[in-house]
Amino acid sequence: MKKVCVTVNRKFTIGKSEKTLFSSFIEHMGRCVYGGIYDPAHPSADRDGFRKDVMDAISELGVSMVRYPGGNFVSGYDWKKAIGPVEQRKATLNLAWNQLEPNKIGVDEFMRFSEKTGTKPIMAVNLGTGGAESAVDLVEYCNLETDTEWAEKRKENGHAEPYGIQYWCLGNEMDGDWQICHRTADEYGQIAAETAKMMKWVDPSIKLTICGSSDTAMPTFPSWDRIVLEQAYPYIDYISLHKYYEYPGGDRTRKQDFLASYVDLDGFISTVASTIRYVKTLKRSQHEVYISLDEWNVWHKRDCFSDRENRGISVAREECLYDFLDAVVFSTLICTFVNHADVVKIACLAQLVNVLAPIMTKPSGELIKQSIFHPFMLASHYCVGEVYQTMVTCDTFSSMYGEAKEVVATAVGQEDGGVCLLVVSLSEEEISLDLELEQFGKISPKENIFLAEQKAGEKAEGGPVEQVKIQKEKLESTTVLLRPYSINFIRLAC
Ligand code: AHR
Repeated sequence: MKKVCVTVNRKFTIGKSEKTLFSSFIEHMGRCVYGGIYDPAHPSADRDGFRKDVMDAISELGVSMVRYPGGNFVSGYDWKKAIGPVEQRKATLNLAWNQLEPNKIGVDEFMRFSEKTGTKPIMAVNLGTGGAESAVDLVEYCNLETDTEWAEKRKENGHAEPYGIQYWCLGNEMDGDWQICHRTADEYGQIAAETAKMMKWVDPSIKLTICGSSDTAMPTFPSWDRIVLEQAYPYIDYISLHKYYEYPGGDRTRKQDFLASYVDLDGFISTVASTIRYVKTLKRSQHEVYISLDEWNVWHKRDCFSDRENRGISVAREECLYDFLDAVVFSTLICTFVNHADVVKIACLAQLVNVLAPIMTKPSGELIKQSIFHPFMLASHYCVGEVYQTMVTCDTFSSMYGEAKEVVATAVGQEDGGVCLLVVSLSEEEISLDLELEQFGKISPKENIFLAEQKAGEKAEGGPVEQVKIQKEKLESTTVLLRPYSINFIRLAC
């Protein structure tokens, strides 16, 4: 059997992997809000119309923060049309996704949802059709106690106490020509800097994220990132990166390229981290800016279901069924950003319900946990803590992104003093993994919690979405069997 070695030294740490790395994203898109989190006609709906089964699944996933309300949607959104008495709100066009927006869920309803799910909001402001004034008014509405127009409106709407929203995004994907009011880096950098400055005048405690590149494939990457950072560095706290992976060109024969996606993400993060460093030095600044990977996932663009011509409210957009290999690639992406925990402080799985989502709802009522649900859930539990450098000695394979290791790993310290390694095998063969744990003192191997594809006969009814089962194996030594294409959470007490 093939052998692989993973070496971890307790003295070589990278940084702290925060809970905020396990955040997600809810957009007014497809059936994410209407027919997803909100469905008053559903038997499990609570008095506010939120589906209780969906909220339970979100808690089980361990989602820390939720970015809202977009996405592309936010660049045409007027939040003021979705506050006050619901029956007086008028529907508007959701130009980003060719849908109708009934405005039944707005800021106040979303904050109630956040409270119910125990998640924190990351609120995005509209820097497309909106601008500094609309953004500043929203900060006042959400965060101030003053007797001023927008803070007063919130009180009139039944919320005497400010929400105290800490995290804010300065628009969305402004580098893309698909974006409503897309801009050049110079134009956006200037608007973002001015808006950021004013938002912080309203509430100096808030943290702001500027839009970085929305893909490594963008022709403007990485100069976009440098330009917007140069314009806004003193006023912002994070720069956002977005990245979705698929089989290149949708060609499923290009499996090795898909498996190597993590190599590209690693390069993306390193490049932007270097750009932050460059601008910090250029500005002679003491201020730190971090990375928020606030949209990431696998997205098979050609295979998702979208009822594009239907301009309804609760109609499908980008509904993707994830198989086991998607969960494998997904897990390598988790390893990658956790291994950059010194610079990546926020990561949002895009999205949470129905659109590119770990949680799917059927209009009839059923809830389905997709293959990607399980590694996210385990990682949100076991990949929070001090991250150690891992050295993986294994075979490599060639890909469009360069040489890729066939085993990807991250090692994270646990609250009880132990360590958990997330080890993903991209090999079609079984592998014998030797763990070399240096400076950890006495080690007691505990268990391997693993996900491996069920053999055809063992597949649950319902097809690919149900083909993942969490299994556990007690460990007697630091040699661990890695099954073909498997996701392993290896737990050791130290
Ligand atoms: O998550 C779906 C869409 O992908 C978002 O609206 C946009 O930001 C990205 O292009």
